Amino acid sequence: MRQIAVVGAGASGLTAIKCCLEEGVDVSCFEKTENFGGRWCFRKHSVPSVMKSTASLYSKEMIAFSDFPPPKSYPNYMLHTKMLEYLQMYAEHFHLLSHIQYHSEVVQVIPTKDFGTSGKWLLKIVDLKTGRINEQEFDGVMICTGRLSHAYIPTTPNRENFRGKVLHTQSLKTTQEFENLNVLIIGSGNSAVDAAVDISILAKQVYLSTRSGTWILPKVGPKGFPFDMVLLRRHFHILKRYFNNTMNNFLEKYLEKKIQHEAFNLKPNHRVLDGPLVMNDIIPDKILTGRVHIKGTVKKFEENAVVFEGDHKAEDIDVVIFATGYEMKLSLLEEKFYKTDQGQSNLYKRVFPLGLKHSTLAIIGFVECQGPMTTIAESQSRWAARILSGKLKLPREDILKDRMQMKVPVVEDYMEYMNELAEEYGAKPVLSTFLFKDFYLYWRCLTGPFLSYQYRLSGPHKWDDARRAIFECYDRVTWPLSIANQTKMKKPENS
Ligand SMILES: Cc1cc2nc3c(=O)[nH]c(=O)nc-3n(C[C@H](O)[C@H](O)[C@H](O)COP(=O)(O)OP(=O)(O)OC[C@H]3O[C@@H](n4cnc5c(N)ncnc54)[C@H](O)[C@@H]3O)c2cc1C
Ligand SMILES: NC(=O)c1ccc[n+]([C@@H]2O[C@H](COP(=O)([O-])OP(=O)(O)OC[C@H]3O[C@@H](n4cnc5c(N)ncnc54)[C@H](OP(=O)(O)O)[C@@H]3O)[C@@H](O)[C@H]2O)c1
Repeated sequence: MRQIAVVGAGASGLTAIKCCLEEGVDVSCFEKTENFGGRWCFRKHSVPSVMKSTASLYSKEMIAFSDFPPPKSYPNYMLHTKMLEYLQMYAEHFHLLSHIQYHSEVVQVIPTKDFGTSGKWLLKIVDLKTGRINEQEFDGVMICTGRLSHAYIPTTPNRENFRGKVLHTQSLKTTQEFENLNVLIIGSGNSAVDAAVDISILAKQVYLSTRSGTWILPKVGPKGFPFDMVLLRRHFHILKRYFNNTMNNFLEKYLEKKIQHEAFNLKPNHRVLDGPLVMNDIIPDKILTGRVHIKGTVKKFEENAVVFEGDHKAEDIDVVIFATGYEMKLSLLEEKFYKTDQGQSNLYKRVFPLGLKHSTLAIIGFVECQGPMTTIAESQSRWAARILSGKLKLPREDILKDRMQMKVPVVEDYMEYMNELAEEYGAKPVLSTFLFKDFYLYWRCLTGPFLSYQYRLSGPHKWDDARRAIFECYDRVTWPLSIANQTKMKKPENS
């Protein structure tokens, strides 16, 4: 039986283990901390995790694994504690936990000496309790160590002169330490805006420095339901392909009714559907109440102040928080396996390194995409597990290279990317086949929320309840809103 190693037991690692088991291979997962869940497992010190107040950016139905709908009792936007609970239920339901070795840090993944014939990989694993280094060979490896492990801090003139505290959002856990302080947050991604909202509750003043501005989407959409369930729909995606301008106008008009981005100094140069955006309902209120002041690009630091482009200055700054994102880096693997000399991705469909004689290494969750990472990691894992188990082969290298030439976007389009992956492992639903057989399903998949359950309707490891999960999704959305249901609820149940 093939032996596969999974490195990391976050959301990606858990689904990778599950997919390996599904394909009948022997799987060992190495996790350097004492728990599974990765980012979603809040830890006060040392290990990167979400903040104490973080709720998921996407709603529960959109982040659900394809054969494991979240409990109907769960709120639509899950707090990190609920997210971890969901991962735990998933892990327990599919018997994943016994495959994880904790306190085991993989420090190096290298091809074995006989890689040309065997395709095997050597893992150097440090037992963090004893310090002993162990070397183990595997037929295949899935690296699931997360995309957000290497904080990016840009160089800014005179930063060394600044006397206050400097940190990155990666190490931000709670906000009490900022009570009565003047805090500058640099960046305007989701981390920056979440941090600004939370820190401004206790801080004296928060400044948010944005280089390019951003579109602000509310998480609460029309009629109070999750906005992602409205926006991530197949027919919108098709319309966008043909009427990009009109669709952008339509959404921008909707958003501008809520916040005039220009007046709030947030208007970016890109159209709303063509670039990064932030999902937050509270930031407009924080700006209007003056708890958060929007500033432009930082020009230079002074001892206790920061000067912005246009020579505006913010005085008496106590703390600067870089919310400037992350570098695409893996410390356990040589860069040549996942980056070209020009620094671009060398991964076919962001998963398989090009140029290897054997497709026995897969990198999961290492992609920039405007969409939930859980479902992306699951789809990547389903494909990778089929390849690593030998049930599927990648096309020839020259074909892969040709396909890579055609399209290498920096940020993948969620729906397109999910469909591409599913096509690779044979689970992409062909909607036209439902048209006469099951019109309701056809219509729901075309015009309803883009749910991952659709990838279990057919193909390998199809799930008999996938259709039901699609049709019952609104019950799970509305269930926690009912007072009667809340009183009935004793403990979470999986629907
Ligand atoms: C504040 C915040 C909010 C987010 N909100 C959402 C959201 O709403 N929806 C969404 O889909 N995504 C969200 N994300 C993205 C989030 O990163 C993913 O949901 C998910 O956590 C990615 O899982 P992962 O397993 O790939 O990485 P991680 O969660 O980072 O897990 C990686 C695991 O690998 C382990 N590890 C790392 N290196 C090694 C090693 N060398 N050896 C052994 N083990 C190792 C780590 O300890 C960790 O357990 C958010 C991210 C942040 C920072
Ligand atoms: N609640 C949640 O669910 C939640 C919360 C936080 C994060 N996340 C997720 O975690 C991931 C990382 O988010 P993130 O916000 O940390 O990173 P990010 O999305 O990469 O945003 C980085 C921000 O830093 C700015 N920046 C980068 N380099 C800069 C420079 N040299 N000078 C000034 N500004 C610079 C960028 O501005 P430009 O636009 O000008 O490049 C951007 O505003 C995302 O997938 C996000 O969705 C989710």
